[in-house]
Amino acid sequence: MKKERETICRAVNMRKTYWRGKVAVEALRGVTIQIRTNDYISIMGASGSGKSTLIHILSCLDTPTEGEYFLEDRLVSNYTDLELANARNKFFGFIFQSFSLLPRLTALDNVAMPLVYAGIGKNARLGRAREILAKIGLADRMSHRPNEMSGGECQRVAIARALVNDPKVIFADEPTGNLDSKTGAEIMEIFDRLVDDGNTVVMVTHDPNIAAHAKKIVRLKDGMIEHE
Ligand SMILES: Nc1ncnc2c1ncn2[C@@H]1O[C@H](COP(=O)(O)OP(=O)(O)OP(=O)(O)O)[C@@H](O)[C@H]1O
Ligand SMILES: [Mg+2]
Repeated sequence: MKKERETICRAVNMRKTYWRGKVAVEALRGVTIQIRTNDYISIMGASGSGKSTLIHILSCLDTPTEGEYFLEDRLVSNYTDLELANARNKFFGFIFQSFSLLPRLTALDNVAMPLVYAGIGKNARLGRAREILAKIGLADRMSHRPNEMSGGECQRVAIARALVNDPKVIFADEPTGNLDSKTGAEIMEIFDRLVDDGNTVVMVTHDPNIAAHAKKIVRLKDGMIEHE
């Protein structure tokens, strides 16, 4: 019998409304979605359809206005701020289109940074960061700063940083958006390998060729999931 994969998190009828003065922007209008272990999901949709809003909430960088969001069956709205920060650190890794590395830190220190917040000692932090960077093919770039690396290398450092805590879900918002197509394809090979190794990846992309790497495509339209 095939084993059911564990549900890591699930959103039920989630809405997000942003207020700009008196004008409401309904970025999400009732989204129900779950993420299970070893899922490989791409989220597509037109600009403004709510893709970033959705993964920001799923990764606990933001909170929904209405609806329920459960992390391992616990309602996130019941978390204290500290619990939320800890959950974000423990459960999720996040990769941005613009890499978002700290410019003054080396690749090694950028990757080790999340472990500072996890309260791990310096030697263990650097050891773990070295191990991940080596795995991702950057053993010879550890002491480089972001402006001393190519875009593809910076994105690999950002992936290493997202992996360093051994997260349950890796979220990526347009991870290849700032890269040429060859470098983008190399980044996608890394994601494919991570999923083959049992990791869970949820990524946003405009590019159908990138989306095709995923096992499941979720399309957003005007803040709702389109069902075909
Ligand atoms: N902080 C904010 N304040 C007000 N409105 C916002 C805010 N963030 C997003 N929005 C609005 O919410 C809607 C959804 O935005 P979101 O960033 O989720 O779209 P997206 O699908 O990621 O778009 P893109 O493909 O351009 O990145 C848009 O209409 C956007 O203008
Ligand atoms: Mg976006």
